[in-house]
Amino acid sequence: MTLLNDRPVLGTGSRLVVEEPDRFRVHRDSMTSAEVLTQEQRKIFDHNWLYVGHESEIANPGDYVRRRVGGRPLFMVRGVKTGQVNVFHNSCTHRGAVVCRKDQGNAKVFQCFYHAWTFDSEGKLSGVPDRDAYAGGLDFEALGLARAARVESYRGFVFACYDPDVVGLVEYLAGAKDYLDLIIDAAPADMEIVNGSQHYGMDANWKLLVENSIDGYHAVSTHDTYFKYLVALGTDLSVGVKGTSRDLGNGHAVLEYEAPWGRPVAKWEPLFGEDARPSVEGLRRDLVERFGEERAHRMADLNRNMLIYPNLIVNDIMALTVRTFVPTAPDKMEISAWEMAPRDEQPDVRQRRLDSFLTFLGPAGFATPDDIEALESCQLGFTSGGVEWNDISRGMGREPLATDEAQMRTFWRRWRDDMDRERGAVR
Ligand code: FES
Ligand code: FE
Repeated sequence: MTLLNDRPVLGTGSRLVVEEPDRFRVHRDSMTSAEVLTQEQRKIFDHNWLYVGHESEIANPGDYVRRRVGGRPLFMVRGVKTGQVNVFHNSCTHRGAVVCRKDQGNAKVFQCFYHAWTFDSEGKLSGVPDRDAYAGGLDFEALGLARAARVESYRGFVFACYDPDVVGLVEYLAGAKDYLDLIIDAAPADMEIVNGSQHYGMDANWKLLVENSIDGYHAVSTHDTYFKYLVALGTDLSVGVKGTSRDLGNGHAVLEYEAPWGRPVAKWEPLFGEDARPSVEGLRRDLVERFGEERAHRMADLNRNMLIYPNLIVNDIMALTVRTFVPTAPDKMEISAWEMAPRDEQPDVRQRRLDSFLTFLGPAGFATPDDIEALESCQLGFTSGGVEWNDISRGMGREPLATDEAQMRTFWRRWRDDMDRERGAVR
């Protein structure tokens, strides 16, 4: 429902993303303009499915997590009565204060600190101080917390959408669904988010991190120190980064490739230590038994960097990470990242996984500081002027390699189409 009618701006996408037969260019205004960000909020974040969190984060009744989803404060809580996943707008129906004020916890009720209205875990208004002051009484039913217009989950990944008319989540996920299946099936039982999260900020446009998260081209140059570290441990780099990328529909894309590093499921590397060999090889045998040689090979040996449009990354690389981010200004974003792992994993395997995760993907790991430096450097470069366009043409006209930029073009085409459309604000 739109009360204030923002003026829709048509054709923004096509002005900023220009595709020719062998050239693909993106105008730098897409990364620097406040007007573009305003339009993104309305046309992209208000109308696409957005990742909220994982069901394992709220395993017990009353468990909750607080999130910013597409820039809006929400919280997700497992209802004490129903056991269901509830996703609410984090705003008191009295006069607006956020109701859930901690990042995570367990609660039967949520009391707004401003005037102490109280809501239960199903969102129902359950307490109002001095309620007799309201002429005719208060309609407790109508004053419950507002739910996100649509909430659906796929194999534990909970998404919300502010547009009630959006297509169903499975249809939206399109080809990304098969890759989620492949990643999740590698766990004997189920996947869970490992307790704890990484929250950090970057002085860069959010789309730079979309590109970077699925960019095979930068690995060898930007993360040179990591590769040197692996070599020092005895890793054979001759395999390089070899593979391909796929357009998964609806702006989603994946890289799938071989790389020199090991994988907790289930490819041994020197970083894990000699004594880890038997258990890693055992995990691999289990995969072959369950899925056959070919699928087990993909699960164990191949890496996947996947974008679920617009801002969810699931990278199944030397560890499995789930990452999402929101713009807070054209040149700023907030990032949240988690590690995902098979539930009930053996402690020694879990330990190696955590080590592999933090070594590369941790906030002080080999990758994250490098990537922040690279992206902030791009953003700074944009302010220099003189150059209007970014070039994203690598690999056009051939079968895409993992080190090409086809997967970024998939994102930008969908971004262009979303930004070209006339769409009003969703309240
Ligand atoms: Fe929440 Fe008044 S704003 S009780
Ligand atoms: Fe990187």
